[in-house]
Amino acid sequence: MKRSKFSPIVPLLPLALLLFPLAVSGAVTPKAPVPATITVTFPKGTATPSELCGECHKAIYREFAHGFGADIHTRDLQSDEAGGRDIGHPPAAISSMATAHAMAGTDPFPLHARESEADGKSCNVCHFPEAFALPDMDLSETYKPKPRLKSQEAGGLTCASCHLTPEGKIRGPYNLRAPHENAPDVKMRSSVMCAYCHSLGKRNVGQQTQTFLEWRDDFWKRGLGSQNCQECHMPRTVRSLAEGYDVPDRVAARHLWTGGRSLQRLQNALSQVIVQPDQGSAKFELHLINIGAGHSVPTGSNRRAVYLQVEARDAQGILAARSDWMFAPWYGSRPDDKAFLEDDKKRPDAKAAMQADAQGPHEPIIRAGEERTLTWSPLLKPGNYTIHSTLVYDLNRYNDRAATADQTVFGSISLPIRIE
Ligand code: HEC
Ligand code: HEC
Ligand code: HEC
Ligand code: HEC
Ligand code: HEC
Repeated sequence: MKRSKFSPIVPLLPLALLLFPLAVSGAVTPKAPVPATITVTFPKGTATPSELCGECHKAIYREFAHGFGADIHTRDLQSDEAGGRDIGHPPAAISSMATAHAMAGTDPFPLHARESEADGKSCNVCHFPEAFALPDMDLSETYKPKPRLKSQEAGGLTCASCHLTPEGKIRGPYNLRAPHENAPDVKMRSSVMCAYCHSLGKRNVGQQTQTFLEWRDDFWKRGLGSQNCQECHMPRTVRSLAEGYDVPDRVAARHLWTGGRSLQRLQNALSQVIVQPDQGSAKFELHLINIGAGHSVPTGSNRRAVYLQVEARDAQGILAARSDWMFAPWYGSRPDDKAFLEDDKKRPDAKAAMQADAQGPHEPIIRAGEERTLTWSPLLKPGNYTIHSTLVYDLNRYNDRAATADQTVFGSISLPIRIE
């Protein structure tokens, strides 16, 4: 157990340490020097439990396993389900929740979805990957990392999934001495670290699972910004990387990866503006602007959607008209469209294709830096109204739209207007 720095023994420490270095070891555990030889290896590969790394990398583990420091709200799960794993002395209760990476193996979704959407097809290449080498930034096509054996799926995505090289060394951004063998690689600080699992195949604007390619081609290459994924998704701090060791504080990236379950993250993705271009007329423009994401919104899995819900309420607050739009990644290489439902029946992935096409056509995702303008002309009698516009993020657009446990309202604006 580590004692607090502020224990009453502290004032006596410098003297005691000088004279009797061993005498105080019972009172304050001294930090161990980093051993000169390799004492830790990882024979289980990427199935190495994250808890093992967490024994030495405590703050990073706490972020990974509990989302400590993030505002992840997995409202469709209980917090003990979401953060059930811990080492040492886990807190009795904690307000934060596990990251999606820590959940990728225990999360009921991928395994459940595999049965219900993909007829048991193996989906473990990204959810349970083998060790892989990092690609080059200008790769033309991402290929899937190798899947782990089904018998080793239990661990899900682990620390070792990202950090272990195919040679069994620990990939890290520094070049440090550690109890394990390291493979220094500055590319860890760039978006190529995320490329394999966050993009599949070639760039095809609008399609699902294109996050890395959207970032590279729409955001970074065009010069919209210089941030890599880490700058937005792993904000950095200065602290010890291995708490029990006598090592200086260093720059550390918080292992939080907030996404669609974080209101903080969603709130700085899109801006919205309502415009009544002509005095007295029931014609409106709704502008959605991607100001904060380094890729399209929503990005990633085709399950994700953003809804724009617009209402006109009269002076008494009574609903006079409403409409909504859905923005979502296409399941396949062409827009989702009901017109394909009959053809879909012949496909091997019929279930997944049909549930996507049944919801199309819909609005394509909003690219990095893009401003999307929609028009709305409701039938309104003359009078005073307020136009309300609300943005909602849905983790799974295929479940019942009325099931709001996986939805987050992340922006609301309104505009009083007059119809003549
Ligand atoms: C027995 C303790 C221990 C275990 C277990 C351990 N580490 Fe480390 N690790 C260290 C120490 C000590 C350092 C050096 C820290 C420093 O100098 O700031 C380190 C450094 C690192 C670095 C930075 C390397 C660099 O040069 O950039 C990474 C990344 C890392 N560890 C990841 C892991 C992962 C992933 C696991 C589990 C698969 C793991 N560690 C298991 C003690 C451990
Ligand atoms: C080994 C594969 C893999 C790598 C590498 C990887 N991810 Fe992920 N990531 C996943 C999977 C799988 C999920 C979805 C897990 C789930 O929800 O069950 C995910 C989810 C996420 C989410 C969604 C969080 C949420 O709450 O919905 C974010 C954000 C994210 N990753 C960012 C990153 C960033 C940034 C990097 C690079 C530093 C990265 N990922 C590297 C596989 C990976
Ligand atoms: C989704 C991929 C991913 C997973 C999972 C992951 N890391 Fe990392 N880790 C990274 C990246 C990317 C960096 C470099 C961050 C940066 O840009 O500074 C990093 C950096 C580190 C460092 C060096 C200090 C730093 O922040 O630069 C340590 C130590 C480390 N990770 C330990 C762990 C441990 C322990 C776990 C599991 C509890 C873990 N990582 C899980 C991607 C991951
Ligand atoms: C400029 C900041 C920024 C950069 C750079 C950035 N993101 Fe994001 N990311 C966001 C915002 C804001 C959101 C929320 C809106 C959305 O879902 O698109 C988000 C959402 C996500 C999600 C959605 C999670 C979910 O729940 O489905 C994933 C995955 C993700 N980012 C991965 C990445 C990866 C991988 C990179 C680098 C290739 C990256 N991001 C670069 C800001 C950024
Ligand atoms: C190319 C890598 C990759 C492959 C292959 C893959 N996934 Fe995923 N999956 C991800 C990533 C990354 C996310 C995180 C969310 C995002 O990017 O929007 C995710 C998220 C999910 C989610 C949503 C979980 C949540 O957080 O709500 C489900 C369900 C899912 N995947 C199921 C599957 C199924 C079923 C298959 C096989 C048919 C599959 N995945 C294949 C990378 C992959």
